[in-house]
Amino acid sequence: METQHVPVLLAEAIEQLNCKPNGIYLDATLGSGGHAYTILKDNPQIKWLVALDCDGDAIKQARSRLEPFSHKTFIFQANFITLRAILKELAVKEVDGILIDLGVSSLQLENPNRGFSFRLKGPLDMRMDKRLSSTAFDLVNTYEASRLEHLFRTYGEERWSARIARALVRERKKAPIADTVHLSNIVTTAIPPAHRPRKIHPATKTFQALRIVVNQELDNLTKVIEEGIDLLAHQGRLCIISFHSMEDRIVKHHFRKSTTRYIYPDGVRAPGRLQAGTLRIITKKPITPQPEEVSNNPRARSAKLRVAEKV
Ligand SMILES: C[S@@+](CC[C@H](N)C(=O)[O-])C[C@H]1O[C@@H](n2cnc3c(N)ncnc32)[C@H](O)[C@@H]1O
Repeated sequence: METQHVPVLLAEAIEQLNCKPNGIYLDATLGSGGHAYTILKDNPQIKWLVALDCDGDAIKQARSRLEPFSHKTFIFQANFITLRAILKELAVKEVDGILIDLGVSSLQLENPNRGFSFRLKGPLDMRMDKRLSSTAFDLVNTYEASRLEHLFRTYGEERWSARIARALVRERKKAPIADTVHLSNIVTTAIPPAHRPRKIHPATKTFQALRIVVNQELDNLTKVIEEGIDLLAHQGRLCIISFHSMEDRIVKHHFRKSTTRYIYPDGVRAPGRLQAGTLRIITKKPITPQPEEVSNNPRARSAKLRVAEKV
């Protein structure tokens, strides 16, 4: 049977999206269509759901799942940073709510051919969008040691980044590092045995770093938040589910930045010049899954939902 992604924080995200009759909503990360299906089923009065994913496999699966709602669903294979152009194509000027559920889907993770999993042997790919030109193979086999070290430290917060980078460069001199299990074995061996993590696989952080860089995840997140805020209608909500601290920091920072604005044409900042911004933060602290959800779906354990509303 085809793998289907189990949506995380489903009830919480749908409640926070606060769908209104005749509203237009955007699911920027459609995946298997779990969130989208519930948005449409629970809110029969909405006008349209526009849904995007950069992954063609996800689009195919979600399209068939959302078939019963095809009269009010517009599905695009696209990077969410292009949302302005997509809405323009539909002659939509603003949307009443946006959901962004970051990270990788089970559909991607559990398909060995996609190269996301350190447990399943497959090619070192990791592109969510197969139209991208660079794969994890290219990074691992061509980047200099210093660049790899920087990448693992910055995007994986990996303490052993220098050792891992040196080990990769040493190994690839013998033969290209072409598959996920080969990579994960090199990473594991590079970490001193006494320091290998027990709760997570030793290659988790290295794989995360490569995936983030291959898919430009953090740059894309910054862009979609900025565009999303701009394209929200009055009282429209931006709901973002993140899965690691780097993503969450970006969301928190951009939400905070948009709650107030200084007007200082002469360059002088003063409290009296503080003006209400474009957002109101709804979740002072992020919403996290209930223990029951985590025990049913361990992938949910690090999820954080932050919500802000356009003022
Ligand atoms: C966690 S899954 C979403 C699951 C979905 N909410 C569901 O219920 O099935 C994240 C999805 O976002 C997609 N994605 C990640 N970055 C993207 C981007 N920049 N543009 C469009 N889609 C993206 C991935 O391909 C993946 O399918």
